[in-house]
Amino acid sequence: MDDSLSDRAQWLRTRLDSANRAYHELDSPIIDDTEFDALFNELVLLEERHPELLVDSSPTQRIGGAPNKKFLSVKHSTPMLSLSNVFNTDSFFAFCDRIEKSNKNRQTELVIEPKLDGLAISLIYENNKLVRALTRGDGVNGEDVTENVKTIKEVPLVLTSEIPLNIEVRGEIYFEKVDFENLNTRQSQLGKKLFVNSRNAAAGTLRQIDPKITASRPLTICCYALVNANLIKNISRQSEALEFLRSVGFKTSDDMQLVTGRQRALAVFNDIEKRRKKLPYDIDGVVFKVNDLGLQESIGSIARAPRWATAFKFAPDEEITKILAIDVQVGRTGVLTPVARLEPVFVGGATITNATLHNMDEIMRKDVRVQDTVVVRRAGDVIPEVVSVILSERKSNSIPYEMPTNVPNRESLKKIAQLIHFCSRKAMNIDGLGDKLIEQFVSRKLVRDFADIYMLTESDLMALPRMGEKSARNLLGAINFSKNTTLPKLIFGLGINGVGEATAQSLSDVFTDLESLGKANIAELEEIPDIGPVVAGNISKWFSIPENKHLLDRLVEGGLVWPTPAKVIASDDQPSLTCIITGSFPGLSREQLKERLNTRGIRVVTSLSKNVDFLVAGDKAGSKLKKARELGLPILQEIDVKLLLDDEISTGELLSYRQ
Ligand code: IVH
Repeated sequence: MDDSLSDRAQWLRTRLDSANRAYHELDSPIIDDTEFDALFNELVLLEERHPELLVDSSPTQRIGGAPNKKFLSVKHSTPMLSLSNVFNTDSFFAFCDRIEKSNKNRQTELVIEPKLDGLAISLIYENNKLVRALTRGDGVNGEDVTENVKTIKEVPLVLTSEIPLNIEVRGEIYFEKVDFENLNTRQSQLGKKLFVNSRNAAAGTLRQIDPKITASRPLTICCYALVNANLIKNISRQSEALEFLRSVGFKTSDDMQLVTGRQRALAVFNDIEKRRKKLPYDIDGVVFKVNDLGLQESIGSIARAPRWATAFKFAPDEEITKILAIDVQVGRTGVLTPVARLEPVFVGGATITNATLHNMDEIMRKDVRVQDTVVVRRAGDVIPEVVSVILSERKSNSIPYEMPTNVPNRESLKKIAQLIHFCSRKAMNIDGLGDKLIEQFVSRKLVRDFADIYMLTESDLMALPRMGEKSARNLLGAINFSKNTTLPKLIFGLGINGVGEATAQSLSDVFTDLESLGKANIAELEEIPDIGPVVAGNISKWFSIPENKHLLDRLVEGGLVWPTPAKVIASDDQPSLTCIITGSFPGLSREQLKERLNTRGIRVVTSLSKNVDFLVAGDKAGSKLKKARELGLPILQEIDVKLLLDDEISTGELLSYRQ
């Protein structure tokens, strides 16, 4: 273990403990919330990456101040070990090499289980009765949390065995994802601090002084080990120990697999990683254990981890890096967005060099400065963001960031952003017309508005640096090709503030031509489900500006054509429904899903309100899911969507069965 990391963890624990005490017990805070959160997050991150640094007494393992009555410290009959980690295939194969070497160079059977991200517990049974439950503590001594553990439904209080058993069983206590989300929703309703992750929530819940609080939250358990299993008759393998545990009433992983051969083992790892988001619980890796208990014993353990097991961890979606600069980007509505330029860092499976800082309020709230060491996060397809600053790493001469009030060329940057949007894939989809070319068009005053793109000539293009005849022709071809468009794509491309793809679709469903859309008043626009007063105002204002009318005329002159969309009329047998999508769907892009829902007469909108008929929740459903629950909207899962799209079930049926 790297001593500096362990020192750092110790320092963070001490600092957070005193801050907690000062705040909760002495009522005189010594650091502000932002600094507390940053230090806390750093410790969470450190413990996540180096589980061997995690101790029960860590402030990440409790909520609020120190417990006013300590849990009894009890020595473990057998130390509770941790697991070594591997982070890539090479180190995993090195683990396989070591195992095979200890097994006469033979391929070795491995037990594979998802690595649950909760906290370890040891359950002691005497004469079939649960007599004690201990946390891991420092591995040697644990804390007696028996009363709290007894409130967990899946923990058998009495074993289903004819023969009275004296056994010790180890497992993981955790919250399922939905339960964790609900818990946080409740915390926020009660105005309490949210838990940073489900492991944290589980730890905080298990270490409550009052078991009634533990009982009120649905913790669960999954057991993965039987201590001294080899002493029990007919057990000589880990898989047999698990079977035995199930037979006497324990829950074990329903995703356990037995595999021989490293390639197969790797395939299982990849498969679990692929399914990770769909699993009902959080996992942070996959555990591999030698199945043969005799072999386990001969391979043995080092320090605090067995050599016959390892945890293959997933790439973390948070990392630490440095801010090299903060740039301000001008959006197509003229809004300024600060962007952090980062020292490149590998996170969430990709190298990132930029992260959004959202807006000035966010920068101030997080007190982000140039040269700061920061935690960045990249989850799924979400834009990478700066989560927090590691204040202890800040240089003493650092100065607060000030957002420039005056961005030079703001107008032309805004124009460029608008043109980029207009040409983008979901709008006019002009292949090959990227940011750099658009910048050149604007700076050379070749293009002032959207319509100018359709007036470009070959000689205009060839005057640009590095533009040969062939590229010029290709680009003109792509511009020409884009003239054949659709009304929703054109409306979306105009970049009216608040009019996203879904709104553009709704508008063309109802108005079907630009003229009637241009004439619509605010009240008429507001009748469209997805449109509120602000967006209605924006649309009406956009069409009232004479230059914009002129622009549309020139676009048509330039050759833009689109088929007149069919008016979508809600009929009785197929009422027009609106839904909102959150999360992702394997094998189906958002675009494809939308189109398919549209063909079923369901409109996809983007802003959540109680007027929306239902929410479709895919993998990694975001905050919309939470909000939809609060609004009491019916929620369709991936399987429901599949039934719906495959015509197996009608929308009406589905919704009635969901409600
Ligand atoms: S075996 C001697 N199996 O991961 C082996 N641990 O990083 C010790 N964990 O302390 C643990 N799922 O809290 C094992 N299927 C699994 C597990 C698992 C989660 C946790 C456990 C352990 C930590 C080590």
